[in-house]
Amino acid sequence: MAGRIPPEFIDQVLSRVDIIDVINGRVSLRRAGKEFQACCPFHNEKTPSFTVSREKQFYHCFGCGAHGTAVGFLMEYDRLGFVEAVTELARMVGLEVPRAEGEDRGPDLAPLYATLEEAARFYRQQLRTHPQAPRAVEYLRGRGLSGEIAAEFGLGYAPPGWDNLRAVLSADRHTIERLLQCGLLAERPGSLYDRFRDRIMFPIRDPRGRIIGFGGRTIGPGEPKYLNSPETPLFHKGAELYGLYEARTALRQLERVVIVEGYLDVIALAQFGIRFAMATLGTATTPQHLERLSRTAPEILFCFDGDAAGKAAAGKAMLTALPFARAGREFRFLFLPEGEDPDTLVRKEGKEAFTSRLAAATPLSEFFFARLQAELDTESLDGRARLAEAAQPLLQQVPPGIYRDLLVKRLTELVGLERKQLGLGPSAGTSPTRSPSSRRGKRTPENVSAARLAIALLIQQPALAPLADQMPSDWRGLQQRGIALLATLLETLRAHPTITTAALIERWGEGEVAVFLRRLLTLQPVTAESGMAAEFLGALARLNEQFRNQEGQRLAGRNKPSELTSEEKRQLLQLLQRGHRKPPDGQDVE
Ligand code: UTP
Ligand code: MN
Repeated sequence: MAGRIPPEFIDQVLSRVDIIDVINGRVSLRRAGKEFQACCPFHNEKTPSFTVSREKQFYHCFGCGAHGTAVGFLMEYDRLGFVEAVTELARMVGLEVPRAEGEDRGPDLAPLYATLEEAARFYRQQLRTHPQAPRAVEYLRGRGLSGEIAAEFGLGYAPPGWDNLRAVLSADRHTIERLLQCGLLAERPGSLYDRFRDRIMFPIRDPRGRIIGFGGRTIGPGEPKYLNSPETPLFHKGAELYGLYEARTALRQLERVVIVEGYLDVIALAQFGIRFAMATLGTATTPQHLERLSRTAPEILFCFDGDAAGKAAAGKAMLTALPFARAGREFRFLFLPEGEDPDTLVRKEGKEAFTSRLAAATPLSEFFFARLQAELDTESLDGRARLAEAAQPLLQQVPPGIYRDLLVKRLTELVGLERKQLGLGPSAGTSPTRSPSSRRGKRTPENVSAARLAIALLIQQPALAPLADQMPSDWRGLQQRGIALLATLLETLRAHPTITTAALIERWGEGEVAVFLRRLLTLQPVTAESGMAAEFLGALARLNEQFRNQEGQRLAGRNKPSELTSEEKRQLLQLLQRGHRKPPDGQDVE
């Protein structure tokens, strides 16, 4: 995506935009010394830990860790794509986004959104006026839906017949093409026909509220009970959640979400005042769903039937959730009595009782071990060993951190062995028992590598770049993480000496490197501004020294000094002198 807009243009936009203006239009910022603060719009809090720096053109929340540039802020807050966010910022500063010539602009999707919107209007209107509609209305009433809630979710009725949409939405070629593209018309050799006929229609919206597809239910029995839009350029079943937009609209700040199975579960819960339910569209929960939700709410509840199929589905959801688990993000599992779904249950029990069920849902950590233990006899030594074995690969899925440490601790308790002993167990080597957070440690300037430090300093203070020319550049020969990136950063800064931090980072778009850079940017404060130059030179000096060591080891590491060519010996001596280093232990050169 990022490649479609020339990076120079993004630089230009970001140099004209002030992140303070961008954010202040959406969240009200208060000045606090050199920076600006507010209560974080990305998580719920009472005291402000959301900080925006005008100087760095960057925001960072000390509470939830959210951070980014103006582009990133718009992507998160306004739910925009990268190109859309840049376009919006360009608009704010009166620039027009250029497209590289001859490059594919990608299809213009606006007409498809408009077509779906028109179809939804038609279906809504049919629910009120079509001679057959009373059957649909009756059915919805029979299921307990109020008129208000039906209107809020935009329910409609697709009348019987094969050719309604074409007749209503005009028959010109373009419209037909669009109806096909968004899945409202289906094609059979030689004929086109309405996909949805005699069904109650549920419009499916994206997180920004645009209709991207429909679900259609038969009135009463019939097969298939639900028909969904096919995959289209707008509709990707595995990523969308029915009700997410409606929940975000009803509640400004989502503290939790509950994932249910069906359209009518979402609507029934909403009708009973539980406004934070959403449904996957006939698929299991996917990583894309969780990716989206983990930016939406800190607590994610899964709701399943209490039967065997529900348990199996919960097991799958747990596996999907493990890579997203961390301290401060809660996943919980709710099992309903057999034969019930949230729709039937909330109607039977009411809001209070259903809310208590939610409150009592099983935390991920508990479900994790309960599931493993259910299959093993953990009284026996053999069973305990197998528990340890089974848990290890799963624990590897959890990102290193406090949360994983807690799971590991619980495992040691259940197995009755110390971490160390577990590490020596049958599947040693995949030991989850070394505490990852202690290995990684806190990110303070003292214990980040010199390469990281140099990168962090450069992105915080791009003006440091020319200093690198004052140093030998031996470090470029280091085989180490970060070296290539450091070199690229210096090159970029040489070509664009006035680029801002934000623009520099946006050059990496949304890739892994961008994530890494943004994280380094929050390493703070690296040092007082006055000391930055010295720190930067110091980091480069340390890298140079590491290079000399690396080369020294390489050359001196040969079995016999005689195997070194005389040129190599010369190099080695030189290195050793330059670095004032003794040769590695036990190696006697010359
Ligand atoms: P269920 O069969 O559990 O039905 O489907 P439900 O949600 O309880 O529906 P009601 O209460 O009988 O109206 C759960 C979800 O699975 C998908 C739909 O998204 C549905 O909401 N589904 C189900 C389909 O896509 N097609 C089907 O034929 C059935
Ligand atoms: Mn149901």
